[in-house]
Amino acid sequence: MAVVRLEHLTKVFPGGTTAVDDLSLTIADGEFLVLVGPSGCGKSTVLRMIAGLEDVSAGEVFIDGDAVTGWPPKLRDIAMVFQNYALYPHMTVQQNMGFALKLRHVDKAEAQRKVNDTAALLGLSALLERKPVALSGGQRQRVAMGRAMVRQPRVFLLDEPLSNLDAKLRVSMRAELARLHQRYRITTVYVTHDQVEAMTLGDRIAVLDRGRLQQIGTPDELYRAPGNRFVAGFMGSPSMNFATVAVGGTGDRVTVTLAGRELAVPGALLRRPGLARYRGATVVMGLRPAAFAVCGAGDEAALPVVPLGVESLGDEKHVLFEAPACSGSTGSSRADDVPSRADDVPVTVDDAAATELWTAKVTQHVDLAIGRPLTLAPDLTEAYFFDPLSGLAVPETPAEEAEPHRAESAAVG
Ligand SMILES: Nc1ncnc2c1ncn2[C@@H]1O[C@H](COP(=O)(O)OP(=O)(O)OP(=O)(O)O)[C@@H](O)[C@H]1O
Ligand SMILES: [Mg+2]
Repeated sequence: MAVVRLEHLTKVFPGGTTAVDDLSLTIADGEFLVLVGPSGCGKSTVLRMIAGLEDVSAGEVFIDGDAVTGWPPKLRDIAMVFQNYALYPHMTVQQNMGFALKLRHVDKAEAQRKVNDTAALLGLSALLERKPVALSGGQRQRVAMGRAMVRQPRVFLLDEPLSNLDAKLRVSMRAELARLHQRYRITTVYVTHDQVEAMTLGDRIAVLDRGRLQQIGTPDELYRAPGNRFVAGFMGSPSMNFATVAVGGTGDRVTVTLAGRELAVPGALLRRPGLARYRGATVVMGLRPAAFAVCGAGDEAALPVVPLGVESLGDEKHVLFEAPACSGSTGSSRADDVPSRADDVPVTVDDAAATELWTAKVTQHVDLAIGRPLTLAPDLTEAYFFDPLSGLAVPETPAEEAEPHRAESAAVG
């Protein structure tokens, strides 16, 4: 068991790629931290630096207070399952799994017991005598997991360990991983592209973009209170829909103009007092696919859409349609008194979203056809708002009233 602390961790590869940029975070003893972000954002590089397989360009790695930055991998007591794991082809499953124990001169009977227990957990008991060539991709992946697990290291580093498995096996392995973690509580850093894995496995999730930490928090915090537009767009599947909308209204009322309709934002000043400062300017509004209901054309908030795609997933359907026109978004793009950030925040802030498709989730019972118009009512109580320039979230609660733990999960620039 161990606390892993990264301080200002930076990796610049020869040739100039900054793969990891000033990353600071602490992984608590026994915590399961999920690292997510788009391809190339530096996830594997972070793991490799923690493991000692990659030199750091700047910053420090601490394990239980020891600055291990210069330590060779074998002294760190870390087990890593690689994105492209490799098994020893000439060894059986049993030998592959027991190899690390053999290197550590663990008693033979003890090693055998550990291998057998782990193999049973992973459903590999019947395959112990086979060589990797005679295994399926999923079985090989489980052997790679088992090889790391038998050692019960201080820290587990898992780089997309389930990516080669079919959907059903993924689900059962995911449940198995959660159970194993409950049982052994080994500090774990887990890299994945999979939303569901991130949300279900992580005690906390750290979101990276271009080597920089965007936000760290519990799955719920990231989903409910994304600190910036990047995190909002990254967490949740299908992704959040974005539109640049004009903000208006007077007194207690704040409105946004979507598809030529001025819609009141419910409880705007109560829940998002910051929104009032954008009156007369624009703000980026985000709506998750689930924030739409099919409604009649007469509904006040009705958004007429023409489905360009319909995806039936059995228990729900996804409707894809052109993002609504954002009329009224003229004039200056921001209010003068909106605080801006001094440093450049590497979040994607552009108007590309305006020309993208939006997705709405509806129940399986809605009769849909491509090209047949329908009306959807967006639920603005479920809307998110972001500054059009900085991409930072317009906070839901006034900063001074925010709970202390919010600081931990706040967006990091
Ligand atoms: N040995 C290397 N030399 C130069 N650049 C590298 C090297 N390894 C990685 N990079 C670059 O560093 C960046 C981060 O790579 P990394 O493998 O950490 O990304 P990742 O988040 O794990 O991506 P993926 O999800 O595709 O696995 C990328 O731009 C990559 O091209
Ligand atoms: Mg990777």
